[in-house]
Amino acid sequence: MTINPRLDGLGEYTFTQLNQLLAPIAPRANETPVVMSIGDPLHEPPALLHETVMQNARFWNKYPPMAGTPEFRAAVAAWLTRRYRLPPGYVTPGRHVLPLAGTKEGLFLTSLLAVPEKKAGQRPVVLLPNPYYVCYQGGGGMSGAEPVHLDASAETGFLPDLDAIPRAILERTALFYLCSPSNPQGACASLDYLKRVLGLAREYDFVVALDECYAEIYDKAPPVGGLEAAASLGGEPEKLLVFHSLSKRSSAAGLRSGFVAGDPELIAGFLRLRNYGGCQVPIAIQAAAAALWSDEAHAIENRERYRRKIDAAADALKGRFGFYRPEGGFFLWLDVGDGVAAAEKLWREAAIRTLPGRYMAQPDARGRNPGERYIRVALVHDEATVAAALARMVRVLQG
Ligand SMILES: Cc1ncc(COP(=O)(O)O)c(C=O)c1O
Repeated sequence: MTINPRLDGLGEYTFTQLNQLLAPIAPRANETPVVMSIGDPLHEPPALLHETVMQNARFWNKYPPMAGTPEFRAAVAAWLTRRYRLPPGYVTPGRHVLPLAGTKEGLFLTSLLAVPEKKAGQRPVVLLPNPYYVCYQGGGGMSGAEPVHLDASAETGFLPDLDAIPRAILERTALFYLCSPSNPQGACASLDYLKRVLGLAREYDFVVALDECYAEIYDKAPPVGGLEAAASLGGEPEKLLVFHSLSKRSSAAGLRSGFVAGDPELIAGFLRLRNYGGCQVPIAIQAAAAALWSDEAHAIENRERYRRKIDAAADALKGRFGFYRPEGGFFLWLDVGDGVAAAEKLWREAAIRTLPGRYMAQPDARGRNPGERYIRVALVHDEATVAAALARMVRVLQG
């Protein structure tokens, strides 16, 4: 059997590695297991979701429009305009927005859309932060490009240092995956940072795929967005694609609903590409998504719940293990010295599943993995479960 060798080049999938690590370990029998390894939001999605799906049940016999329903696109354009205080008409439903069956497929497919060989005979580069959300590694690797991992460690403010990217690499760069708020560290890019990224994209002619999946889960200030940066530079959001999801904002990961927005030429290309092999989003789901993007109340309540859990984490951890309040997202990124050993210990002695940071990163040129010292802890359970699990975690890690 012939399998594309690029698949082997990706390395083992994050959660397969985790399962292999923890499978031989029996967790302590008298503790209830708590899975804090996966970013699977466990809050109840708003009733609006189910009600709208039911009201649109008559459409299950129809192929949904790949380009999205007019209602979906209008709701998204209106939300983007409100959320990022964009000039009216900067984002239009017709030219700037496309539905996705969750952002994961869109982020991955972007590598098929946006990775040409820039100079004959020169392998294109895909830039990605290190650590990363696994899908960027998948997209970069499967496109045949050379993935270049940019250190996003405490020393660089948990975002790639733009000044450290060699010019020769920028010249070969076709696509730059970036995440803000970042998973796993919860760092948010500033407006200036995003403007610089767009400046580089335009100077060196590459596409920026900015993953803003956690943009609605934040601690203090709403994270700025790529479209805000593009609007402040003036003109169309050239070279930019932003990705948003209802999985985290509306605790609706099972809905598989997200969107991509940005550069109209790229959006038109994306639609052409998706017509060949993308997933249409069912009409009932687009209707529910339009209703959810048009409703702020549930997103505010959701954010408050995560904030209370960060408060509980601050109380439980009291600055230990390098605890800091993530600016966005719902993960703790804890410096435990040896992430793999800590994940094993937490599973064995506390029945808590966490993700070793090294499974979200690649070793750098010096062989140093920037995730090595860390575990990622997802605060996705109810508040009481999170508080109890964190207390247990501190006891075990200190013991
Ligand atoms: C950073 C990041 N981007 C994208 C996704 C994909 O989200 P979805 O496909 O559910 O929209 C996730 C999911 O965990 C994520 O953590």
